[in-house]
Amino acid sequence: MASSAANTETPQLNPVIEPLSWMLGTWLSDPPGDGTFPTMKPFQYLEEVHISHVGQPMLNFSFNAFHPDTRKPMHRECGFIRLKPDTNKVAFISAQNTGLVEVEEGEVNGQELSIASHSIARISFAKKPHVEQITRKFRLNSDGKLEQTVSMATTTQPMTQHLHITYKKV
Ligand code: HEM
Repeated sequence: MASSAANTETPQLNPVIEPLSWMLGTWLSDPPGDGTFPTMKPFQYLEEVHISHVGQPMLNFSFNAFHPDTRKPMHRECGFIRLKPDTNKVAFISAQNTGLVEVEEGEVNGQELSIASHSIARISFAKKPHVEQITRKFRLNSDGKLEQTVSMATTTQPMTQHLHITYKKV
């Protein structure tokens, strides 16, 4: 018989993360996301998002992007979203396949989460130009779709939008 350290029962949502419960689920880009930046040709991408919890006072997330034609894996990141108990203060902790590890902080207000980079670390051989600042906004729209907008500043460009995508729940 297979054994596991984990309890396989569906855990109850920890009340601390109730203000972020609108983010929970598996989401798929619909339509494909739009990538932009002054240094690059605009591009489109598909993205699958899993946001879950195991009863702890935090969300677990993974964002996996794919090429819209070849379906080849592209950008990937995973991490945790924490809420400071009894406040609307949020921390977003992410490890990215490009060699970047970042912490963003901000606030959840209703069904909108706005965060900005607090600290960014990268591997010694990360591709240049390096990103210096990141901001993100997540919002649950009235049609039930989740929307994410990401802007960044690099060593060569001021803060500019890099990604905009909406997801439907699957
Ligand atoms: C390029 C950062 C997410 C696709 C870049 C560049 C940076 C960057 C710094 C180089 C810009 C330049 O050359 O001036 C980030 C950060 C992300 C992120 C911090 C998340 C917070 C994504 C996602 C996709 C994506 C989700 C979706 C496929 C691309 C592509 C390029 C690019 C296609 C241009 C080619 C390349 O340099 O690889 N990104 N990116 N990025 N990014 Fe992102």
